[in-house]
Amino acid sequence: MERAFINFVFCGLLLLIGCVSSTTVRDLDPLIRRDLLANGLANTPPMGWNSWNHFSCKIDEKMIKETADALVSTGLAKLGYKYVNIDDCWAEIARDDKGNLVPKKSTFPSGIKALADYVHNKGLKLGIYSDAGYFTCSQTMPGSLGHEEQDAKTFASWGIDYLKYDNCFNDGSKPTVRYPVMTRALMKAGRPIFFSLCEWGDLHPALWGAKIGNSWRTTGDIADTWESMTSRIDMNDVYAELARPGGWNDPDMLEVGNGGMTKDEYISHFSLWAISKAPLLIGCDVRNATKETMQIISNSEVIAVNQDALGVQGKKVRMEGDQEVWAGPLSGYRVAVVLQNRGPHRINITARWDDIGIPPNSVVEARDLWLHKTLKKQFVGHLTATMNGHACKMFILKPIS
Ligand code: GLA
Repeated sequence: MERAFINFVFCGLLLLIGCVSSTTVRDLDPLIRRDLLANGLANTPPMGWNSWNHFSCKIDEKMIKETADALVSTGLAKLGYKYVNIDDCWAEIARDDKGNLVPKKSTFPSGIKALADYVHNKGLKLGIYSDAGYFTCSQTMPGSLGHEEQDAKTFASWGIDYLKYDNCFNDGSKPTVRYPVMTRALMKAGRPIFFSLCEWGDLHPALWGAKIGNSWRTTGDIADTWESMTSRIDMNDVYAELARPGGWNDPDMLEVGNGGMTKDEYISHFSLWAISKAPLLIGCDVRNATKETMQIISNSEVIAVNQDALGVQGKKVRMEGDQEVWAGPLSGYRVAVVLQNRGPHRINITARWDDIGIPPNSVVEARDLWLHKTLKKQFVGHLTATMNGHACKMFILKPIS
């Protein structure tokens, strides 16, 4: 099974390198031909919450604190959601007279250090946002271009644990030149800070991201719709072979709980993100999450697939019309499978052992991760399931002989 998987990885890699223009590969800045980031983080994909998808610029310290409280009181923190990430719009438009970033007085009057202390006291971690350009995307605060060392020092002194680094209003230089400057600055600042490259997939960051960051966006921004969600995960799938412990492909943050998709669609969203080893960053208002939302984002069996120690991104291994089979190896010779119905009608989908990397004659036990049941039947050669439009089934398959 392992050899089959290595072949599968190798072929995928050749295909990818063929697809990506060779100019891009040749043009990589010499600065990042070697590893710059050694922060020991991101052994598994990051889990937490981010303010952008639900709140955009309407953020303040009270809401961030309440979110931290809610992550703990709902049990989400215990499930692994530990990063509380402030996105755009947290700072004043002007730096102080020493050139330092200044938290926005009207919304973050106690400052970011106090917020970090609050969040740390709850056993959580605090993330912040900046931009490899002159302004952030909202244009309401400065970017870090030209201030990398100073800002990295500031973040470290505040106790920041995660930096999302956006790409707006830059100077036109290549991201392969601009982003490593912040990597070096973070290393110099001396605090392990998860470095999330938000370069939107422009220059195939999957090809160089692992040397300088812990995750890299492979796509433009997600929206809370089925079309947006499925297109993000497809774009991300192209780079599956390049994810590994320490550095992960990022198809953008979760929309589960924001109201634009059905329950089945959100279950598909969460399952596809989990098997793709994507960051699981909740993007809804966890203070007011419904029972249905909580059930989805709290599925510990699905989370365990995402956080599995083997750290191999699952990928789409077969696609026929609306039928999709996604699969990836897990520790203990197990295989995670998502059978995804991309169309509107009820259909059957079959996972075949030779598609998903299980030896042909293996007898397999199947655990349904959404029903929380191990199926009575054992399977040989294939497993077929039926699902409604836009719904999925997610299994862990375990060869027993
Ligand atoms: C960009 C990023 C988003 C978000 C916004 C904030 O669009 O891709 O994830 O951070 O900026 O302005």
